[in-house]
Formats: sequence, structure tokens, C-alpha cells
Amino acid sequence: MKAPPQVLLYTVVLILTHTTTYTLSATHCPPCGTYQVPYPLSTAPSCGDPDYTILCDTNTSTLLFNTLNNTYPITAITPSNQRLTIQPSPLLSNTCVTSDYIHQGVQLNSSLPFNITSSNTIMYLNCTTELLSSPLNCNSTSLCHVYVNNTVVAAACGSSLCCTFRAGGSSTSYSIRVRDSGCRAYTSFVNLDDENPVNQWPEPGLEIQWVVPREPVCESQVDCDGSSTCGPDDLNGSSGISRCFCNSGFTWDPIEGICVKDDCQNPDGCSTDRTPLIAGLTASIGATLIVATLAILVYKRHRLIVEAQERLTREREEILNANGGGRAAKLFTGRDIKKATNNFSKDRLLGAGGYGEVFKGILDDGTVVAVKCAKLGNTKGTDQVLNEVGILCQVNHRNLVRLLGCCVELEQPMLVYEYIENGALSEYLQSLRTGKRALLSWTCRLKIAHDTAEGLAYLHSSAVPPIYHRDVKSSNILLDEKLNAKVSDFGLSRLAHTDLSHISTCAQGTLGYLDPEYYRNYQLTDKSDVYSFGVVLLELLTSQKAIDFNRAADDVNLSVYVQRMVEEEKLMGVVDPLLKEGASTLELDTMKALVLLALGCLEERRQNRPSMKEVAEEIQYIMAILTANR
Ligand SMILES: *[C@@H]1O[C@H](CO)[C@@H](O)[C@H](O)[C@H]1NC(C)=O
Ligand SMILES: *[C@@H]1O[C@H](CO)[C@@H](O)[C@H](O)[C@H]1NC(C)=O
Ligand SMILES: *[C@@H]1O[C@H](CO)[C@@H](O)[C@H](O)[C@H]1NC(C)=O
Ligand SMILES: *[C@@H]1O[C@H](CO)[C@@H](O)[C@H](O)[C@H]1NC(C)=O
Ligand SMILES: *[C@@H]1O[C@H](CO)[C@@H](O)[C@H](O)[C@H]1NC(C)=O
Ligand SMILES: *[C@@H]1O[C@H](CO)[C@@H](O)[C@H](O)[C@H]1NC(C)=O
Ligand SMILES: *[C@@H]1O[C@H](CO)[C@@H](O)[C@H](O)[C@H]1NC(C)=O
Ligand SMILES: *[C@@H]1O[C@H](CO)[C@@H](O)[C@H](O)[C@H]1NC(C)=O
Repeated sequence: MKAPPQVLLYTVVLILTHTTTYTLSATHCPPCGTYQVPYPLSTAPSCGDPDYTILCDTNTSTLLFNTLNNTYPITAITPSNQRLTIQPSPLLSNTCVTSDYIHQGVQLNSSLPFNITSSNTIMYLNCTTELLSSPLNCNSTSLCHVYVNNTVVAAACGSSLCCTFRAGGSSTSYSIRVRDSGCRAYTSFVNLDDENPVNQWPEPGLEIQWVVPREPVCESQVDCDGSSTCGPDDLNGSSGISRCFCNSGFTWDPIEGICVKDDCQNPDGCSTDRTPLIAGLTASIGATLIVATLAILVYKRHRLIVEAQERLTREREEILNANGGGRAAKLFTGRDIKKATNNFSKDRLLGAGGYGEVFKGILDDGTVVAVKCAKLGNTKGTDQVLNEVGILCQVNHRNLVRLLGCCVELEQPMLVYEYIENGALSEYLQSLRTGKRALLSWTCRLKIAHDTAEGLAYLHSSAVPPIYHRDVKSSNILLDEKLNAKVSDFGLSRLAHTDLSHISTCAQGTLGYLDPEYYRNYQLTDKSDVYSFGVVLLELLTSQKAIDFNRAADDVNLSVYVQRMVEEEKLMGVVDPLLKEGASTLELDTMKALVLLALGCLEERRQNRPSMKEVAEEIQYIMAILTANR
């Protein structure tokens, strides 16, 4: 006699889902038992967003999260920051093996809009000794020992090796892998304060974040409420999907999952044009007065223009520096720029890159700068340019070329950078090939690689918001007089479109450096920068060009060439012969290590590439081996 209540519950759920499609909250799923299911999470095809599917077990009224091979109970959901927490698998009793060991731990489908956040502290348990050479902390100070020593259920893990790390690095954003050749168990804690004693730690949990959702999918207008219209999703032309797009006067609120009414807060933005009024006035005034009136109007107009210009400058500076903290960005006038570059005179031209021409400039106070004329796509408004320059100006790291400010008065927006003496790495390598410069030593090359990796790692993990470079290449790596490397043009492709005369794809990035995964999903991520950096490493190792039509047709692409050589087991054959000449065994070994690291960066699948931070650490490790044995 168990059936009736279940049938009843099921019917209630059906009614709820059914009615909700016709009300304002068209897109929200009904609660699962007592648990609310916020948008975009979807427990049924008729509600939420199907990309964000989770399960509601109506028998137990629990929400479940599906991974590729397993299902985990959801213990908390916070829609305001798009996060949910799942309960990690427990240990099989009296062993140090997690029950999801057969599924290789937590494996998210990386095509879905969920990833593992950096708020998770992961304890890896029962690990092999190979883990000792990983970037994870596996020594006796590691927090996992504190956990194991003080947790009854983990008693079986006592004598085995364990490691601790913070998740959310790009290698762990979709998986917490357990396996024989690594660790056989794990657990996780969200926002763990490691100062606290273990008995005050939270319950184990693994926090997962979802991507801010788009408008709800619809089949017809019936699925949308009065504030939105069902229309084809142009962003995804071929998908044939339609979405409830907000009507004008409404804006999509991805957290509430509804269209909210705009309210006009900016009086300037709403003011009406008064010119017709003035025209009407002048027409009605007697002829003798006209001259005097005109004079006054001209004067007033002049004053208005000056005032408007001053206000505009003030507003622009506010936008430019709205991102708080840090160093202020400077708004240069067109006159400043023309004067500094001697009116863009030919002898000041430093070069023409993917984004336009670069001139050397000297400011009134004597500061030498590089002025870049950005070729912008026609969709970029001045405010957006200012806003983005404002963000990029805050970025401050010794391995990044400093963006000082910009000028938006001239035909093209101008970006003003600190001036770096020695030119680009690409030119440097070119002059080595033509014999104009003496050999760049192995330690020097390692240092250039390390400096660059540090700069990029900073952009990815320390800049707020994180910045993906999107066009890492040797011509964007500048060397100062001491051969310190500095990355330039970071984040610029957010602003600018690449120049077609330059060898570039019609989209973003430069041929020879472009992440192959980009062709699959048209998305550049931190791992795309890692890929491009892998190509730079190959350039440093081989002294060859990323794209060189002088190589055999199928070897034009440096990364393809090197990967072919490695498959033919001629790994060291790719290294610049001049570098190998007279090198010690240890030096040869470190060259080999760098080739292997480059190959890791060039992994076809993003998940398999290391993060920029791991790359920087690895290069540092290689450098340390060399210095320790000198
Ligand atoms: C709910 O219970 C029924 C009957 O016990 C069972 O057939 C069904 O698979 C259960 N559903 C889930 C999602 O566990
Ligand atoms: C650690 O993992 C190995 C390999 O799966 C397993 O045989 C062993 O029992 C585990 N150790 C403990 C204490 O459970
Ligand atoms: C996980 O599932 C996929 C297919 O869904 C399968 O190919 C793979 O072997 C499974 N992996 C494990 C470790 O069970
Ligand atoms: C991962 O998600 C995508 C998008 O929903 C789906 O097409 C694909 O089949 C999933 N992969 C696996 C192995 O389940
Ligand atoms: C343990 O590792 C951490 C970082 O991985 C390091 O800072 C610390 O010095 C190490 N301690 C010992 C005793 O090796
Ligand atoms: C954990 O216990 C072992 C064995 O009792 C001890 O050697 C070790 O110092 C303890 N570690 C911590 C971090 O408490
Ligand atoms: C995880 O997803 C969030 C939201 O889309 C995103 O901001 C974050 O960068 C992602 N993290 C990783 C490591 O991919
Ligand atoms: C376009 O559709 C495909 C398949 O339906 C999906 O994988 C992809 O994420 C969609 N892209 C956008 C921008 O929505």
C-alpha cells in the first residue's frame, strides 16, 4: 500500500511543472521535496535550462548531480554565486579506497557548464610515491596528515602517502581523479580554514560552479512570459534553438532567471534634444536682433562645447579608473600623442604588428613610451575601450609590459605602453638565425621562458578579473637590456581585431600558435594561452620560426614538426644544434625536460595541459637543477 502517496507526489510534480510553464516563473523547476531548484538548474525537460540538468530523486526527495560515470547527492545550492556542493564519495569501510574509485573519482563532462571551484581543499589519500615529484604538497607537513590522524573513518589511510592541494586549477577544474597510478582515495572541504582543529571542520563537500545562464529555451511564445519574446538563438545559428529574449525595456537577470524592467538612472542618457527649440526661437526674433543673438549663441555654444568637452574628459577618466585600487590609468589627449610621436613621423615607427602600427614616443616629462594604434572592430564603443584599458592598466607584474593609458580622441584609439629597449623575442631569434647576434645561452633561454610563464600565470590566476592573453607569441614577448622578458599586448584581443595582412586566422590568435580546440568550440581559455606558450617554448628550444614555409610542407607548423620528430623518437633532434654543441649531460637532460614540458602544453585536449602556474613552477624546477649542479 505504498503506491498511492507516490502517485500523488508524482502528480503534484506534474501539475507544478505543467502550470509553471504558463506563469511568470516559466523557467523555474518545482521544488524537489523541500529543496528549491533555482534557475537554470533543470530537473525536467520542461523547466530550467536543459544544459544544467540535475536529478530529483522523488523517492527520497534528494537532488542528485550526475558526473560522467557516477551520481552524487547535492547538499547545498547558492544561486547568487552559481554554486552547489556535492557530497564526495565515502571510503569503503576499513580501507583507504573511495567508493567512486571504480569510476576514477569525480569526472565532470567538460562540455557542460559546470566546473570545480578553487574553494575546495582536496586531500588525496593512499598515493603512490610518484606524487612526491608533483606540485602537490605530499610531505609530512601536508594538511592531509592532520585530517587522517584525527578522523576515525580515515584510520586505514594512516601509514600511506597523502597529499593536499587547492582545486580549481585548470588541471582539476573538471576532475578529481583517483586511480592506481596516483591516489586511490580523496576527500574535499569547501572553504576550509586550516587553522581550525579537525573537529571544527565542515562536513566533506565538493563545490561546483555553473556558468551564468542564458535566457530560457522555448518552443513557442507560450513558453515565455509577457516580458520576453520567443526567438531564434542567433548566437548558435545552426542549433535551431529558440530562447525567450527580453523585450526592449527589460534586461535578462541570469540569477533570478527573469527579465527585469530597466529603470533610467542616468539623467544625461535620457535628456531630449533641444536643438529644434533654439531654431524655432531664432526664427521668431526680429532681423536686427538676429546678429546679436547669433553672437551670444555662438559664444554660448562655444562655452557649451568647452564645458561638454571638460565633462566628457572627466567622465572618461572616471570610466578609465573605475576599477578601483592600483595605479591610475592616464587619459592622453590627441595633442599629447601627436607631440610625443612627432606627428607619427616615419622615423618613430617601431614596427607594425597584428594590431596596428607602433611608434616610439617621448612625453613632455621625458618618459619614453611605445604608442600603439589599435585597429578596433567596429562594434567597440569608446566607453568599452576605456573600461577595458582601465582594467588592463591595473595589471602590474615585473614580467608584463605596463600599459600606462590611452587616447580616444584620434581616428583610432591609441594605447600607451612603457618602452622596452631590446625588442621582441621573435626578432632576437631571427637575428640569431642570420648570425647578427651571438648565441643565446641555454640558461638565458630558460630564464626568458620562466619570465614569460610567470607573467602569464599572473594574468591567469592573480589579475582581477583574470585575463587571458589570447595572442601569446614570440613577437609579443619583449626583452629589456638585461634580457628580462616582458609579455605585451595582454588582453588586447578583447579590444582589437587582428589585422588581416598579418598571418592570422580570421578570428583571434595567430596561425602557428592557435589552440586546436579553438576550432571545435570557438572559445579561448587560459589553456589556449598554455598551448601558444608551448609553441614559444619550441621556438626557444629549436631557434626556429613557429610558421616557416622553408620547412617541408607538412612541417611548416613548428608544433606539428616537433611532434612528428618525437613520434619518430628523435626528440633531441629538434633542439638547436648550437645549443647542444658542448652541452653537458645535465644540460642535455634539462633540454629534454623542456621539450617534454612543451609537448604537455601542446596536448590536444585542454584538460591534459598543465596550468600556466604549473608550467612556471616546472621551468623553475628545471632551472634549479641546473644551478644546483653548477
Ligand atoms: C523510486 O522507487 C521506485 C519503487 O521503489 C523505484 O522503482 C524507482 O527506481 C525509484 N526511483 C529512483 C529515482 O530511485
Ligand atoms: C591503497 O590502495 C591499494 C591499491 O588499490 C589497495 O590495495 C590498498 O588496500 C589501499 N590501502 C588501504 C590501507 O586501504
Ligand atoms: C566513464 O564513462 C564513459 C562513457 O560514459 C566510459 O567510456 C568510461 O570508460 C567510463 N570510465 C570509467 C572509469 O568508468
Ligand atoms: C557531455 O555533454 C555533452 C553536451 O551535453 C554531450 O553531448 C556528451 O554526450 C556528454 N559526454 C558524455 C561522455 O556523456
Ligand atoms: C613541505 O612542502 C611545502 C610546500 O610544498 C614546503 O613549503 C615545505 O617547506 C615542505 N616541508 C618540508 C619539511 O619538506
Ligand atoms: C600523525 O600521526 C603520525 C603517527 O602517529 C605522526 O607521526 C605524525 O606526526 C602525525 N602528523 C600530524 C600532522 O599530526
Ligand atoms: C569555472 O567556471 C566559472 C564560471 O563560468 C569561470 O569563471 C571559471 O573561470 C571556471 N574555472 C576554471 C578553472 O575553468
Ligand atoms: C551551440 O550549440 C552546441 C551544440 O548544441 C553547443 O555545444 C554550444 O555550446 C552552443 N554554443 C553556444 C554559444 O551556445
